[in-house]
Amino acid sequence: MTITTSRLQHGEGRFFDKNMASAVTPIREPEIKYTQIFINNEFVNSVSGKTFPVINPSTAKVIVQVQEGDKADVDKAVKAAQAAFQFGSKWRNLDASERGELLYKLSSLIERDRRYIASLETLDNGKPFKDAYDVDLTLSIKCLRYYAGWADKVSGKTIPLDGQHFCYTRHEPVGVCGQIIPWNFPLLMMMWKICPALACGNVIVLKPAEQTPLNALYVAALCKEAGFPPGVINVVPGYGPTAGAAISNHPDVDKVAFTGSTEVGQIVMEAAAKTNLKRVTLELGGKSPNVIFADADLDQAAEASHQALFFNMGQCCCAGSRTYVQEEIYEQFKKKLVDRAKNRKVGDPFDVQSESGPQVDLDQFNKVMALIESGIKDGATLECGGKRKGDKGYFIEPTVFSGVKEDMQIGREEIFGPVQQIIKFKTIDEVIEKANTTFYGLAAAIFTTDINKVLTYSAKVKAGTVWVNTYNILNCQSPFGGFKMSGIGRELGEYGLQQYTEVKSVIIKTPTKL
Ligand code: NAI
Ligand code: MG
Repeated sequence: MTITTSRLQHGEGRFFDKNMASAVTPIREPEIKYTQIFINNEFVNSVSGKTFPVINPSTAKVIVQVQEGDKADVDKAVKAAQAAFQFGSKWRNLDASERGELLYKLSSLIERDRRYIASLETLDNGKPFKDAYDVDLTLSIKCLRYYAGWADKVSGKTIPLDGQHFCYTRHEPVGVCGQIIPWNFPLLMMMWKICPALACGNVIVLKPAEQTPLNALYVAALCKEAGFPPGVINVVPGYGPTAGAAISNHPDVDKVAFTGSTEVGQIVMEAAAKTNLKRVTLELGGKSPNVIFADADLDQAAEASHQALFFNMGQCCCAGSRTYVQEEIYEQFKKKLVDRAKNRKVGDPFDVQSESGPQVDLDQFNKVMALIESGIKDGATLECGGKRKGDKGYFIEPTVFSGVKEDMQIGREEIFGPVQQIIKFKTIDEVIEKANTTFYGLAAAIFTTDINKVLTYSAKVKAGTVWVNTYNILNCQSPFGGFKMSGIGRELGEYGLQQYTEVKSVIIKTPTKL
């Protein structure tokens, strides 16, 4: 069963009705222009002289060696950022509207190089070119433009005080922001991090994931071309326990924003607590419940539930990995999901027919295969898939398990791969209780035509985002983040700005009672 793309909304398979990528030829071997660390608007080698390999997940072959940053390089980057943040610096002297113009300029440069950047993303991450082009690039450009518009609209309040006093608040930039990002949406996660930070006037030391550093370095060059002053944006590629830890432990980093595993989120927060109590925002894992009631539009719900899990090879923090199906329609709906998974086209991500490419690296591949084994061992029913696909690269067959229980490892842990879990339920009270049986709370969805079920579920489910009759809608205008162990703070939207400002009260004695 397939639905025509025009019926689908973003996230339900095609993010936009216009299939823009189909008119574009991907660059299969994009030239790798930048492999060095970006500090003070210059590309430099690592202090240690070390490099690390970047692997093409479609072939498991090395694409290129990149300079490996660690503590010494992070120190240099932080110094450059601090200098750029001094009062009187070029950056601090810009009008807020000029910061907005720079963000807008960067969006235009990314749009200019869209085909190249999407191709590089596909090479580096393995995601289908059409997703990179239509989804990652579109959302990245929109994020830049959204926050470009905010730059001169970040304002405080005037507050009446008791006595002869007057108070106003300033929303000041926090300072040096360390940003540690993952590999599942390399460009887009960079945008979610840098756009609100720059709009508010902060300076940045960003560490891309070691699996996918290439577009962060390319965009760093575009930041310079756009006219961002030296030191405002620094990019230090390297590994987590070295370069990442140097950021979260740094006494002169004022804030750290992290997206990745819950386990590392805890390490980052602990490091922040033990050093300088730097501000912490975390966007972590999930085990999101996606609930299908018998009264839903079942064809639409099936396609959306399929994409909820299999989009981006299941490598989404908000993946709908627990699919709860109401008893009356369980067999019928399960068949739709299994048929669709069997039909999913997995292959060369540069082929526009491919709906899925490989997992990002060998570690992720091994993790997912081990979890599939555990599902079989724990007694879930393997409906389809379960095996490696092909003999090169990290491709995995779309896999569906039914008869899953929340106490099984696959019902409990984030798989981050193309493995869907189907669970039966009877009543709304039961499914809400089950949905909340997890220490995660990132996203949740419900498919129904009954407004009362929508209202009850969306109030009672513990999740930062609730999608109703849709999935994976991640627009820059609405806030995103987690309840419970899925994170701290919200990114995107107006709420996202709060994480990048310090509020200062200025209290002035007045000559008379005003
Ligand atoms: P990870 O949490 O180790 O990596 C994410 C980022 O954190 C990378 O830039 C990494 O270099 C950095 N990092 C790692 N250790 C660090 C440390 N000690 N201090 C500071 N930074 C550190 O995630 P990984 O190992 O790539 O994937 C493991 C699992 O995490 C995945 O299977 C998935 O379940 C989850 N994950 C969740 C993501 C999300 O979007 N919420 C994204 C990536 C992974
Ligand atoms: Mg890790």
